[in-house]
Formats: sequence, structure tokens, C-alpha cells
Amino acid sequence: MQLSMKEQMLHILLEHNGEYVSGQKISEQLGCSRTAIWKHISELRKEGYELEAMQRRGYRIIQQPNNIRSHNIHVGLKTEFVGQNIVYHESVSSTQTIAHQLAHEGAEEGTLVAADEQGKGKGRLGRDWHSPKGTGVWMSLILRPKIPPQQAPQLTLLAAVAVVKGIKEAVGLDCEIKWPNDILIHGKKVVGILTELQAEADRIQSVIIGIGINVNVKEFPEELQNKATSLLIEKSGKEINRAALMQRILEQTERIYKQYLKEGFPIIKLLWESYAVSLGKEIKATTINGSFEGYAKGITEEGVLLIEDKEGEIHQIYSADIEISSQT
Ligand code: BTN
Repeated sequence: MQLSMKEQMLHILLEHNGEYVSGQKISEQLGCSRTAIWKHISELRKEGYELEAMQRRGYRIIQQPNNIRSHNIHVGLKTEFVGQNIVYHESVSSTQTIAHQLAHEGAEEGTLVAADEQGKGKGRLGRDWHSPKGTGVWMSLILRPKIPPQQAPQLTLLAAVAVVKGIKEAVGLDCEIKWPNDILIHGKKVVGILTELQAEADRIQSVIIGIGINVNVKEFPEELQNKATSLLIEKSGKEINRAALMQRILEQTERIYKQYLKEGFPIIKLLWESYAVSLGKEIKATTINGSFEGYAKGITEEGVLLIEDKEGEIHQIYSADIEISSQT
């Protein structure tokens, strides 16, 4: 996606990192009039950018708003296709639903749907996902890998690895992964990932990867307080720039996804295992068919969890909630 004139101007101001850029330089670089520059400056101010205009020196950026409008994500995003087409909404029911619709209509690979708030965010196993306004990253990414549907769990694990790496890069926090894709800090969930498919019997048409990150959430509803945390809480109250975090995650996703398409799953599996907390432990798995306890032996080449029960029987788990019963 080409940067618009306003985005290009923002890019120039951001590149100068708070230093002044003359109006003449901007107008030469963009091939636009001084009046056009002024118009874009006013628009950016309305969106919450703090910009200073000084006679004879030019313009400089003082502060960016902590919003996730398309151009805030797009400017400074170093990818070829992941997140290059962004559909942003202030408030939606669920970004997953919109992404499904767009994928169905033929949206290009890498299309991203993001929202500032979700009225009915979807979690795994039919649960709701708490998605309050202005404090999280609620986004759905459309990918179109040419793989059979049974390999789709691999993409869930791929996304989890990309998110862990993106968080480390943007915020400096270390996370762990609980199979299949709960991302935890100090044992509490900070990110949830929901992977959904549009597929025929033998081939995937699209994968919709929904990522929900508790970024600047200060307080959770009572029922979540013992289970959930946010990056802000883990950073002792320090507010995190959501657009910059999304950029790092989208870049990691593209990098790892390209590697996956070229070299297959083994390298992603190794990375995922290096972050996993649930392997090699006694766990309780709750599936839609009931729950049972056993030893988490590992994951298969397809990303499916293997549990050995007390009788030594191995179970392949495609979807479940996992509780770690002991720290063995
Ligand atoms: C989970 O239950 O752990 C998965 C939660 C996934 C939440 C994200 S938020 C963005 C996207 N839109 C949704 O409605 N759900 C996913």
C-alpha cells in the first residue's frame, strides 16, 4: 500500500525524531504546497499528534497519540505484505467477523483488521474476550498459505512465537507460551490467539489469526483478576505505545511466516518449544469431551499436543484448556 501524502509527511517528521524540519524541505520532498502541509498538520493535530510550528525553523513532532489508526501502524512498518493493507475501526463487534467477511470477498494476504474496542470479542472454545476501549491490541490477520487444513495448528504456534518475539522487541518483557497459544507473564495471561479457517476439504483458503493483547489495561473485571495481566501492569504502570508494538509483531510474523513457507515447520517448532511452559509436565486437559490428566510429552510435526495418560496411552489433543498440575 502506498503511503498517502499525510502519511509521508508524518514519516518525515518521525524520521527527524523531534528535530525541526523546514516547510521548504517537506514541500520539496513531497512535491506539495505549503498550504497542503499546513492542512495535513492541522489534521494530524486533530488526531492527537502534538506538533510544533516555528517560524524559520519549520515543524517538529513533540508527541504521538497512543492510537492505532491505520497510518499510525503503517508509518514505520517494515514489512512487504503483512499489515500493508489495514482496515481500522473505532468500535466493532469482533475483528474476527470482519476479517472473515473480507477474506471471503478476496482480501489480499496480509490484510489486517484492527479495532480500538470490541463489543463482543471472541475467545477460544466459545468464550468472550474482554476488549475494552483504547487499552489493548485487538487485531485479526488474514493469511493464505497453500497448506492442507490439518496443518493449520502450525500457524497458531507460529503466531504465538511471533507475538512473544514482538513483545520482547517492543517492550522488553519475556513471555511464556502455554499450549496452544496462551501467552503468559508470571503465570497470568497477557495475550490470547484465536485461529480460524476458511477451507475446503484438502486446502486452506484463508487463515484468520485473531490476536488480543492486554496492553495498557489497568484493571480487570473480578473474574479475570487472578488469571489475566497486562503489559502495563508488568511494566509497573508504564504506558506502552500500541502502534509500535503492533509493528514489531507484524514484522516478526512476516519474517517467521516466510521462513515457514520456505523451510517448513521444524524451526518454528523448536522456537515454540523454547518458550513453552506446559511441556514435560503433568497437566490437566479440558476438552469439549471432558477432562483428563496426563504427562505432556510434546507436540507433533503438525503442532498437535501429545498427552500420555496413567495407562501409558497417548492422546492427540487438537483443542483444549490446559492446567499445569505439578512443576515436575
Ligand atoms: C483466547 O481465548 O485466548 C483467544 C482470544 C482471541 C482474542 C482476539 S482479539 C482480536 C480477535 N477478535 C476477536 O473477536 N477475537 C480475537
